Amino acid sequence: MTQFNEAELTDAVIGSFDQTPDARARFLLQELVKSLHDYVRKTNLTFEEWGAAIDFLTRTGQTCTASRQEFILLSDVLGVSMLVDAVNHRDRAGATETTVLGPFYVGEHRVTPHGTDISASLKGEKMFVQARVTDLAGVPLAGATVDVWHADDEGFYDSQRPSYESEGPSSRARFITNSDGRFFFRTILPCSYPIPTDGPVGQMILQTKRHPMRPAHVHFLVAAEGHEPLVTHVFIAGDDYLDSDVVFGVKDDLIAQVEQRSDPVMPDGKLASGPWYLMTYDFRMKPGAGVAPRPLGTIVPEPV
Ligand SMILES: [Fe+2]
Repeated sequence: MTQFNEAELTDAVIGSFDQTPDARARFLLQELVKSLHDYVRKTNLTFEEWGAAIDFLTRTGQTCTASRQEFILLSDVLGVSMLVDAVNHRDRAGATETTVLGPFYVGEHRVTPHGTDISASLKGEKMFVQARVTDLAGVPLAGATVDVWHADDEGFYDSQRPSYESEGPSSRARFITNSDGRFFFRTILPCSYPIPTDGPVGQMILQTKRHPMRPAHVHFLVAAEGHEPLVTHVFIAGDDYLDSDVVFGVKDDLIAQVEQRSDPVMPDGKLASGPWYLMTYDFRMKPGAGVAPRPLGTIVPEPV
């Protein structure tokens, strides 16, 4: 029987992965062991603290469902999601900035005609969104797929509502850009919202005296042939939480001035029923390839 001291133990565990056939998997596992062991040594982790961590992760997993992803939320509030985003998008000169996918990309993005009011059944202030998808030189990209989703004016996504199962999606849709790279739709002005605080991640945020708020935004996932998929948000200028987003997702380039308008006619020539807001944004796509993230609930586990 072999026994190890603290330092030898780390080397033994790292060495135990030496025969992993996939070199990248081997590297990731061995670096993970190194970092975890360093953490335990550095903090002199107690049994009680180790147990609390196991309990927290267990509850995080148990909170996940087909339409709720507590682990993505955990990654988001620890800044891991934005760090993964950063190390994978180091060279985006001229292209629209990226940000977190978030835990509410749950599918049901049906192709929808331009101009549709995607929040028709919701109360809230009316907003018209007009956008264009181009390459880095400003050449319009026709036929690009654009998934959009956002919270309602009480700060909830449709998938957080009990009615989601029976009534289906709201405030989420898919648009296909026209020959000029444009798409447009109607919706309501989203508001800043707290991440869910009824699960272990939100509870941890409250217990550590962080606030749980995200500044108001609309999510966009743009996919155009010959270009890297773009996962981003457009934030609304003036929001109180732009400087302290709980998931660290704000970038200056992604903040849009959303103006209140009283024009009787909206940009697509249809009459307005009262005051409305106008969001305008142009997405610049980086040439390349890549696979767009799949909605939660559609991910099929790898065969083992
Ligand atoms: Fe969001």
